[in-house]
Amino acid sequence: MSYASPVKAALGRIAFVTGAGQGIGRAIACRLARDGYDVSIADIPPAKAKVDDVIKEIESYGRKAIGVYADVKDAKQIHSAIEETVDRLGPRLFVSVANAGVTQVKPLLECTPEFIENEVRINILGLMNTHITAAKQMVKQGLGGRIIGAGSIASYRTAVNLSPYGATKFAVRGFTEAAAKEWAQYGIRVNAYGPGIVDTPMWDHIDRELAKIEGISVGEAKAKRVKNDILLGRIQEPEDVAKLVSFLASDEAEYITGQTIKTCGGASL
Ligand SMILES: NC(=O)c1ccc[n+]([C@@H]2O[C@H](COP(=O)([O-])OP(=O)(O)OC[C@H]3O[C@@H](n4cnc5c(N)ncnc54)[C@H](O)[C@@H]3O)[C@@H](O)[C@H]2O)c1
Repeated sequence: MSYASPVKAALGRIAFVTGAGQGIGRAIACRLARDGYDVSIADIPPAKAKVDDVIKEIESYGRKAIGVYADVKDAKQIHSAIEETVDRLGPRLFVSVANAGVTQVKPLLECTPEFIENEVRINILGLMNTHITAAKQMVKQGLGGRIIGAGSIASYRTAVNLSPYGATKFAVRGFTEAAAKEWAQYGIRVNAYGPGIVDTPMWDHIDRELAKIEGISVGEAKAKRVKNDILLGRIQEPEDVAKLVSFLASDEAEYITGQTIKTCGGASL
C-alpha cells in the first residue's frame, strides 16, 4: 500500500482530532499525519490502548503524535487538552476536528431526558466546546486555520429510532454555518463532513440496537441498509471520510466555508 498523499501540509503544522482512538477519528488522524501534520489524538481515558496504537501508526509515517485525554462534554477538559497540545507540539494549531460523537438508538417515546441530554451534550455541546476552544488558539496564533466537525447524512434527513441523534447533527450543520460567518475574518474556514453508513464500532452498535427493536438478527439491519441505500455498492470505510477531511483542510478547499458536505455513496439520495 502506498502512503503517498496528494495533499501536503506545511511542516510543523498541528492537527487536533477528538474521538481519534478508533473509527472515523482514527482514519482522519492518520490521514492528516500522512498529509504532513503532527497530530494530537484526543479521546477519553478508557481509549488509551487504542490511542497508543494510533500514535505508533502516525510515528511510522515520520510525524509526531501525542495522546491527550478529555471528555468533550466538559469545556475545561477540552481547554486543557488544547493547551497541552500546543505546549507539547508547538503553538501552530492549524486544523481542529471535532469528531467525537455517540449514537443512541431508541423509539422517541422511550427516550428519557437523561438519555437525550447525554447525546446532546456529547454531539453538539462537545463540538461547540471543541470548535470555540480551537478557534481561540488559532486567533491568538494569527495564522488562520481549519475547523471541521462531524455532521452526518442525518444533518439533512433524520432516521426513525435515531431522533435525538438526528437533531444533534442538524444542529452541527447550523453551528458550522454560524461559526464560519464569525471566523472568516480570522482566516478560519469552518466545515463539517456528513458520512452515511461507515464501517466502525458505532454502526455495529446501531445494528445491534436496531436488531432488538426490529426483531431481526444481528448484522441484518446494517446489511439491509447497505444493500438498499448505498448506490455505490459498498459500505463506507473510515478512510473515505478522511479523504474529504484532508481536502477540506487543504488549500484546494480555499473557497469553501460553512458547509456540511455529504460523503455517503449516494445513501442520502
Ligand atoms: N459511523 C457512521 O456511520 C457515522 C455516520 C455519520 C456520522 N458519524 C459521526 O462520525 C463521528 C465518529 O463516528 P465513529 O463511527 O468513528 O464512532 P465510534 O463510536 O467508532 O468512535 C467514537 C470515538 O469517540 C470517542 N468518544 C466517545 N465519547 C467521547 C467523549 N465524551 N469525549 C471524547 N471522546 C469521546 C470514543 O472513545 C471513540 O474513540 C461521530 O460524531 C459520528 O456521529 C458516524
